[in-house]
Amino acid sequence: GKLPTPYEALGKETLHRLVDAFYGLVGQHPELSPIFPNDLSEVARKQKQFLTQYLGGPSLYTEEHGHPMMRARHLPFPITPSRARAWLSCMSQAMDQVGLEGGLREEFYARLVLTAQHMINTPEDNQ
Ligand code: HEM
Repeated sequence: GKLPTPYEALGKETLHRLVDAFYGLVGQHPELSPIFPNDLSEVARKQKQFLTQYLGGPSLYTEEHGHPMMRARHLPFPITPSRARAWLSCMSQAMDQVGLEGGLREEFYARLVLTAQHMINTPEDNQ
C-alpha cells in the first residue's frame, strides 16, 4: 500500500485540536496578540485549511482562497525574528498540549521552522 501522508498520520481531529490550542496561546502572547484580531476564529479556520494541504491532505485553503502566497499574505504584519520565535514557541506548546510526539512531530515542526523563518519581513526593533 502507499505511505500515509503526514495529514493522514496526524488525523483531522488532532490537527484541529492543535490549531485551536495554538491560537489559544497566540491570543495570550504579549508579542503576538497585538498583531492578531481579537476574534481568532476566522484565522483558526483558515489555518486548519492551510495546514491540511501543507501536510499533504486535500487543498482546502487553495479551493477557498486561491494560491497560498503565505509570505505575501503576511507582509501587512510586522514579523520580526522575535515574533517568529514566539510563533514557533506557541506551536511547540500546542503540540505538547495535544500530545503530538515522535517523528511526525519532529518533521512537522522542522518544516514550520523553515516556513516561519521565511515569513520574517521586519528587522528586530530594539527600542
Ligand atoms: C495569518 C502572524 C507564521 C499561516 C496571519 C495573520 C497574522 C499572522 C498577524 C493575520 C491575522 C488576520 O487575519 O488579521 C504570523 C506570525 C508568524 C506567522 C507573527 C511568525 C513567523 C505563519 C506560518 C504559517 C502561517 C509559519 C504556516 C505554516 C497563516 C495562515 C494565515 C495567517 C494560513 C491566514 C491567511 C489568510 O488570511 O488567508 N499570520 N504568522 N503563519 N498565517 Fe501567520
